[in-house]
Amino acid sequence: MSTDEQLRGFGTRAIKAATRAPRVEQGPAAVPIYQSATFHAQDVDDYAELVGFEKPGYTYSRMENPTADAMAGAFAEMHGAEAGFAFGSGMGAVHAALLALVKAGDRIVCTQAVYGSTRALMERVLAPLGVGIVFVDPTDLEAVEQELAAAPTRVLYAETISNPTIVVADLERLTALGHGHGAVVVVDNTFASPYLCRPHELGVDVVLESATKWLSGHSDVIAGAVAGTRDYIERVRDVAVDTGGIVAPFSAFLVLRGMQTLHVRMDRHSQSALVLARQLERAPGVLRVVYPGLSSHPQAQIAARELRLGGGMLAIELASGEAAAAFIDGLSIPPVTATLGSVVTYAVHPPTATHRQLDEAQLAAAGIPPGLVRISVGLEDVDDLLASEHCRRPIVRTRTRR
Ligand SMILES: Cc1ncc(COP(=O)(O)O)c(C=O)c1O
Repeated sequence: MSTDEQLRGFGTRAIKAATRAPRVEQGPAAVPIYQSATFHAQDVDDYAELVGFEKPGYTYSRMENPTADAMAGAFAEMHGAEAGFAFGSGMGAVHAALLALVKAGDRIVCTQAVYGSTRALMERVLAPLGVGIVFVDPTDLEAVEQELAAAPTRVLYAETISNPTIVVADLERLTALGHGHGAVVVVDNTFASPYLCRPHELGVDVVLESATKWLSGHSDVIAGAVAGTRDYIERVRDVAVDTGGIVAPFSAFLVLRGMQTLHVRMDRHSQSALVLARQLERAPGVLRVVYPGLSSHPQAQIAARELRLGGGMLAIELASGEAAAAFIDGLSIPPVTATLGSVVTYAVHPPTATHRQLDEAQLAAAGIPPGLVRISVGLEDVDDLLASEHCRRPIVRTRTRR
């Protein structure tokens, strides 16, 4: 300790001592959690250059943070994109991805069935600010082309596998149509994950995901990410800086940990989902099973071309909303909640949960019947998810109802 430091009061001494970060030359096995709001510069000029993004480095963790950068970089690399940015939620990613592209007077053509909050963001946030929003059926490419031709369109927005209807979008054809009409093509790849599908490598301009789901995979973090060209991601970062959407360092750490096992988990999720989907296809009371790994899936050919595997998401249609609620309430394994993409199996009734923002007409137009149940297949033993011989209906073992 120098004489100068000895002369200081205890508070100063404690703060100096406890903020002296060790410099580590060896590479660590895991990306460290840089839980620091600020980073120091050499002098005022150095700070000005860093904060203006004129040279690499860090200043303030709302702008950039090493752990957040590591997550964003990993996401971009998995998707074969130049750059990425990591957010504190999937909706933060959707919001910044779109705000980096649209302003008042612009128009978005969006596919009918998308996550309820994405739809709400478009209708309740962007539309009142003067952005035109039109919804189209992604399986009707003629209708998509007509909408794109009807007025100049800034963004064509789709989900690789739609929430909750499990429609598989033909990304190559949609991209060709979008580009043909001068639109930037933005795809939410949450349901697929980069292990099943990499839209950017198929020509899509911007890919985003809720990292809350398969990427992290354990229902213990809320996060999101966007990837695209370096120029575009700089615009996304600028939006994030001014709106405050960056991921927290600990959340980024959890996503990075999950990413390392994504391929192994997705193999098993897909295997179990296929077994369950086949069983559900034969089950009494189930009108329809929609799973990309089944030959009965309406876009089975597109799925075979575009997706490595069927994935962990499937939907079933029961006779009514009441039947759907009774089905979910009767299940013994999934907890009653509304998320997806986890080691835990979840069954959700979209009309009353994830898509509650849509009225009856909008639900019908989006192809979401009252009796739809969306199932995210976890990593529990598949035999436990299947019906026991004695159990005729519902299909999955029931808990005793009081
Ligand atoms: C397809 C899709 N995109 C985006 C989101 C939003 O993600 P988050 O909940 O992480 O904000 C969700 C959430 O369920 C989703 O299903």
